[in-house]
Amino acid sequence: RAAPLVLGIETSCDETGVGIVRGTDLLANTIASSMEEHARYGGVVPEVAARAHLEALGPAIRQALDEASVSLADLDAVAVTSGPGLAGALMVGVGAAKALSISLGVPLYGVNHLVGHVGADLLDDRAPLETPTVALLVSGGHTSLLLVRDLVSDVELLGETIDDAAGEAFDKVARLLGLPYPGGPEIDRAAIGGDPDSIRFPRGLTKPKDLERHRYDFSFSGLKTAVARWVERAEAAGDEVPLADVAASFREAVVDVLVGKAIAACVDLGVPRLLLGGGVVANARLRQVAEQRADAAGISLRIPPFSLCTDNGAMIAALGAKLIMAGHEASGLGFGADSTLP
Ligand code: KG4
Ligand code: ZN
Repeated sequence: RAAPLVLGIETSCDETGVGIVRGTDLLANTIASSMEEHARYGGVVPEVAARAHLEALGPAIRQALDEASVSLADLDAVAVTSGPGLAGALMVGVGAAKALSISLGVPLYGVNHLVGHVGADLLDDRAPLETPTVALLVSGGHTSLLLVRDLVSDVELLGETIDDAAGEAFDKVARLLGLPYPGGPEIDRAAIGGDPDSIRFPRGLTKPKDLERHRYDFSFSGLKTAVARWVERAEAAGDEVPLADVAASFREAVVDVLVGKAIAACVDLGVPRLLLGGGVVANARLRQVAEQRADAAGISLRIPPFSLCTDNGAMIAALGAKLIMAGHEASGLGFGADSTLP
């Protein structure tokens, strides 16, 4: 039986993503972002995101079909992110996906956004993803550590952030350093030439007492406060703030904890594989430290191409296709948008 042609829709945050795959072949990956509209607020505004999806989704579907050179009538199924994410934003995608499913008479698969990030790896040209694998997903909206025993039936949440997401920490610290949104690339640029060991910023939830209850959890709000205090003190003393050192030291603290906990999970659980995903993977220092420490621990590291790491519809389509090929039942039309889906 031929691999299924699946259209995937992603609207959980600020990217309107529509992807089309045939099995594990990527045919189209269209992304429209409302990032610029959010920039003046310094973060994603849910109401603005939902309205932007409503405007962008129709044209994005059209564009993806053109890019893939297929027509709606060719589709075998539709997949959509049902959660977690911003409720109003998710509803736009779920509503559109249901309309397509009904009108085309094809099955609909509602999928978990985080598992979708892991599914992005299915579209890689390299050897297929081996399981079990640990997955570290880091973006502006989430910071999660997963144990993936089987992509379609057995994904366990090992830990997540108890306050800010890693990307959110980059955005907030950038703001307090007077840099624009999104903060990740700005901090990266500011850190050039800086000494990552010049300021020892706190590593959240790494003290022995914290590790008992939060071994695989993350916390970045204390780090953000520590950076704010450090800058305030320097300014109060009349010193010039060494932007490159502060940026490099902050980034080092985030990367150290992210990679440290991910590798620890691999070692503890005897899983010699680690997958990275999410927009923060754009951080070159994160990739570098992950490569070094994975290498030293004998863990094989996988990072999907960056265009598949940020939120996109192709990863949702890929997971939908995988569900079909694994013989899973469709979701039907009765599911909603679940902003707090585990
Ligand atoms: O996955 P993504 O595009 O959207 C979601 O948040 O879901 O991730 C965006 C986040 C933002 O917080 C942004 O500051 C961060 O990823 N980011 C980075 C870098 N590029 C983007 N963080 C650190 N270093 C970067 N180079
Ligand atoms: Zn995401």
